[in-house]
Amino acid sequence: MTKIWVLAGILVIDMCALTPRGGAQQKRKKDAAAAGQKQDAGAQPKGTKDAAGHEWFNHAVFYEIYPRSFADSNGDGVGDLKGITSKLDYLQHLGVDAIWITPCFPSPQVDFGYDVSDYEAIDPMYGTLADFDELVAKAKTHKIKIILDFVPNHTSDQHKWFLESKSSKTNPKRDWYIWRDGKDGKPPNNWTSTFGGSTWTLDPTTGQYYYHYFYAQQPDLNWRNPEVQKAMLDCMRFWYKRGVAGFRLDAVDTLYEDPDLKDNPLLPGLDKFGFPNEHEIYNKKLPEVHDVMRAMRKLADEYNAVLIGETWTANVAELRDYYGEKNDELQMPMDLMLTQFPKLSAPLFREHITALEDAGGWPVFVISNHDIRRSYTRWGDGKNDDQIAKMAAAMYMLLRGTPIMYYGEEIGMENNDPKRKEDVQDPQGRRGWPAEIGRDGERTPMQWNDSANAGFSTGKPWLPVAPNFSTHNVASETADPNSILNLYRKIIALRASEPALREGKYIELNGHDPNVLAFARQDIGGNSVIVALNMSDSAQSVKLELGKVAAPSAKATTLVSVGATASEDRSISLDPYGIYVAKADSRLR
Ligand code: GLC
Repeated sequence: MTKIWVLAGILVIDMCALTPRGGAQQKRKKDAAAAGQKQDAGAQPKGTKDAAGHEWFNHAVFYEIYPRSFADSNGDGVGDLKGITSKLDYLQHLGVDAIWITPCFPSPQVDFGYDVSDYEAIDPMYGTLADFDELVAKAKTHKIKIILDFVPNHTSDQHKWFLESKSSKTNPKRDWYIWRDGKDGKPPNNWTSTFGGSTWTLDPTTGQYYYHYFYAQQPDLNWRNPEVQKAMLDCMRFWYKRGVAGFRLDAVDTLYEDPDLKDNPLLPGLDKFGFPNEHEIYNKKLPEVHDVMRAMRKLADEYNAVLIGETWTANVAELRDYYGEKNDELQMPMDLMLTQFPKLSAPLFREHITALEDAGGWPVFVISNHDIRRSYTRWGDGKNDDQIAKMAAAMYMLLRGTPIMYYGEEIGMENNDPKRKEDVQDPQGRRGWPAEIGRDGERTPMQWNDSANAGFSTGKPWLPVAPNFSTHNVASETADPNSILNLYRKIIALRASEPALREGKYIELNGHDPNVLAFARQDIGGNSVIVALNMSDSAQSVKLELGKVAAPSAKATTLVSVGATASEDRSISLDPYGIYVAKADSRLR
């Protein structure tokens, strides 16, 4: 108990350290004036913190949109910005506070937008800057903030910076990328790309190799060059001035490489592309990454913006580092570890949550995204899939932290994996087939209704709609009071209405139960919400250790009960993956 209070105390202090410095607002105004920017839809209003020192993003629900697949307004089979704008009512009704749009900048689309050829424009396939401004303005009237995806590690090989850089060894932009001579007719070292093959590609014009952690069409920028740093921060500023509330930062751990290019130690076995596995100690997670995070944060603070990190970490300690020693790096490093758990398991999840709580910082929960198999498919058992999706929703929405949903999670969208190599769109899948099938399966069109193409497009969608669209779609689930969608709506609304769920500390309950994950969230006034989630496929009965949070005579008022029955003696029967959420009466404390 004491420990939790102490931790909560630390958190308050930590969060206070995030206060934008006094002069920030003024500097921002000066800045905007200097730039004479008409479209300064402006920086976000100065962060107002609540009594616990929390800012808007601590209580928000974020929603990731893969723009190619969300809503197509012009029938070309690819989603667009106008499509997103047309769905703002839906998003607001769902309870979403901010949307993160994966890259919609001009791009040859080799990596579907993660190969940016111009950081300060919109790809015509998605619309225009005017469409973007309209989206920001309309989203504001829906109380929804816009978060863009920033790709700092690499550009497209069609970006003008790279075209200049590769034109000659003496070009002023040569050092904006990483160029090296080969070794005995071979690449400079043994580093292999996460998308298959060497990280080095020989450019015949100058006879040197350039470095790319991802595809050859995604050359890495040289972050050791101050001109690169300045140019990239300026790109971020461009969007802040257009009213963007923050960025999701792509692949931050790959920003720096060892300048001596030492070979990585080899590990046993081969990767999915047939290359030796490596321990990537010389081209990933170098300490300099944190300098960039601090610089980006300093800029974000000028605009009261939030930074979300694509932070793949091996453990909670590594994740903690991304907040910064002085909380001066990312406000929201994503916890992607939950997505890698092999199965649903109360002890495994409990242990992880405890580690997060002990580490301090405000957790950021993600259960799937455009690179990860959908949670519905990953955690589903083929028998209780909908109930599992609901239980997962209750878990990551009711824990202390900020959830980032992935479009379609709220209706139980499933993976629709390609069956044949010739159907694959993601180059990673084409190169690694069949060991690596790529990421098409988790990127299929949003399922709006049960009409042709699931109501996503009047044209042929760029990826086939998943088979469960006829039962799992927004229209039919809106009409069904017991749908996954309506459970999400209910739980998101509870996050807003229950102070214990907004601010409350996490208190573990029944810590030894092998099947049921139970916890309470308790606010400073002693009001508690208790949550019991059966993470197993068999019925369970639990008697919650309510003595930790409420007086013996306290009454519990049920808030959510799906596959659960509570008895007078405080025991709860839970069906497989059943959910029970209740409020404990504080007057009796
Ligand atoms: C990130 C993105 C992924 C992309 C990669 C390269 O991991 O989420 O989709 O392919 O970076 O930019």
